[in-house]
Amino acid sequence: MTRNDKSQPGRNLAMDLVRVTEAAAIAAARFAGRGGEETGDKAAAEAMLAFLCSVEVDGRMILEEGKQGETCLFHKREQVGAGTGPEADVAAVPVDGASLLAQGRPNCIAAIAMAERGSMWKPGHASYLNKIVVEPQAREAIDIRLSPTENLHRIAEALGRKPGSLSVFVLDKARHGSLIEEIRQAGARISLHSDGDVMGALLAALPDTGIDVLMGVGGATEALAAAAAVKALGGGMQAMRAPQREDEKRRLKEDGVRIREVLTLDTLIRSDNISFAATGITPGTLLEGVHFGDRGSVTTYSIALRSLTGSLRFIRAIQQLDRRPPGGSAAGATPAQVAFDVVE
Ligand code: FBP
Repeated sequence: MTRNDKSQPGRNLAMDLVRVTEAAAIAAARFAGRGGEETGDKAAAEAMLAFLCSVEVDGRMILEEGKQGETCLFHKREQVGAGTGPEADVAAVPVDGASLLAQGRPNCIAAIAMAERGSMWKPGHASYLNKIVVEPQAREAIDIRLSPTENLHRIAEALGRKPGSLSVFVLDKARHGSLIEEIRQAGARISLHSDGDVMGALLAALPDTGIDVLMGVGGATEALAAAAAVKALGGGMQAMRAPQREDEKRRLKEDGVRIREVLTLDTLIRSDNISFAATGITPGTLLEGVHFGDRGSVTTYSIALRSLTGSLRFIRAIQQLDRRPPGGSAAGATPAQVAFDVVE
């Protein structure tokens, strides 16, 4: 084989991103179950930003306008990455489920997605979107303009199953009372989770996870991260703005935004070159949580997705906190070391 053959190895940015979510997850995990949602969230965001500096991209954060919390850090640092290499849009969720983390509940993850510059949908003042996510075989069946019942029937038909055999991931929020009732009336089963719909989308888009569909209203940034994963997996997703607060409704109205616009997967991310990574913070259905070993080792469990090739990796990483490269330069630090440096 010559160096000019088509089979020359290519760069997989998702592999770099895994180290970014490892750093965020390890920083966050040190606060698991300790109460106080903001500390772990902030540590994860700091670790994520610190480690992103080593990734050779010229990244621009896609942010919800006016969002508070961990993204304040991101608002100060709209440009992320090393500043060299390809220009990219970035959707970052340092902690998906700050309250899961604070309470030490399962399925809390760190996630990040990148796609070509200009390809990610801009949420503007939209903080909440209604979402529906399914696995590849049912991706043509969904239509968010239809009722949950109609969608469940269409999904069941596409999968060659009965609606009663479907299991639907729904966030356990007061706003979902009638959705939950309708899903039950349709005969489907429900898996209720207090938070974390990026993980919900992953579970719905991957076959054989025990979750067939995600339905309901969640965050806009989370929708972008989820859309990246779903698109890389070949799954189906649609969304629609679903303002929950009066100020959100007013701002969207002032912006002249069409609330009922259907946001397809291609609207949410107008690119086929997408990289996604997520690392478990607390133990979960798909990813184990961060495990701190007795002798200074840290074990993490991640998923890395690359849409161009459809590659899907589950990565178990074991890092040694005391093994720094000679000279101890920050550029040489591991994700675990960066996470500990941020938190110390
Ligand atoms: P946070 O970590 O920002 O709290 O997000 C957790 C989450 O459950 C997301 O997965 C979901 O998209 C969003 O919150 C729903 O928002 P809300 O908790 O305000 O209903």
